[in-house]
Amino acid sequence: MLGTALYMGRAHHDARRLLKRFHRALATTPVAVFGMGPRTLEERDVTGSRNQLRAALAKVPDVEPLTVAVFGGVLRPAEQCFPFNRMPESDARDWEAIRAWAKKIAEMYYERNPVSADSTSSGSVARL
Ligand SMILES: Cc1cc2nc3c(=O)[nH]c(=O)nc-3n(C[C@H](O)[C@H](O)[C@H](O)COP(=O)(O)O)c2cc1C
Repeated sequence: MLGTALYMGRAHHDARRLLKRFHRALATTPVAVFGMGPRTLEERDVTGSRNQLRAALAKVPDVEPLTVAVFGGVLRPAEQCFPFNRMPESDARDWEAIRAWAKKIAEMYYERNPVSADSTSSGSVARL
């Protein structure tokens, strides 16, 4: 799972670096990607952020995520320096949507790689 905040029109520097460095490994790994950022959940804002995330993924075309999601971001001006501390405070996180997505991902991974009920204590993984 790769999650990244979006900043200044791009995925976070660390996420871009990780994709660049590990794209070969990620190309053969089931990976889910999410980005956080839009100030509101209005279609225009979310689409803009989604395009920013897509641009980062487009640089590593061999990585084909199982799913890509964009969630609303949170902005606390008091934690920013000038001039970003002049931006309006906002919190567009939709916890229900985030939890639903996380649950879906867990199910998706489980279906691909089920852990049998009696193997959890030893931590072993059963591949059926
Ligand atoms: C200076 C600045 C630039 C930002 N640029 C974008 C952006 O281009 N696209 C976007 O979707 N969100 C943008 N955001 C919103 C952040 O992605 C959002 O606040 C996110 O929740 C930050 O997560 P973090 O506090 O974990 O870093 C920006 C926020 C700041 C403070």
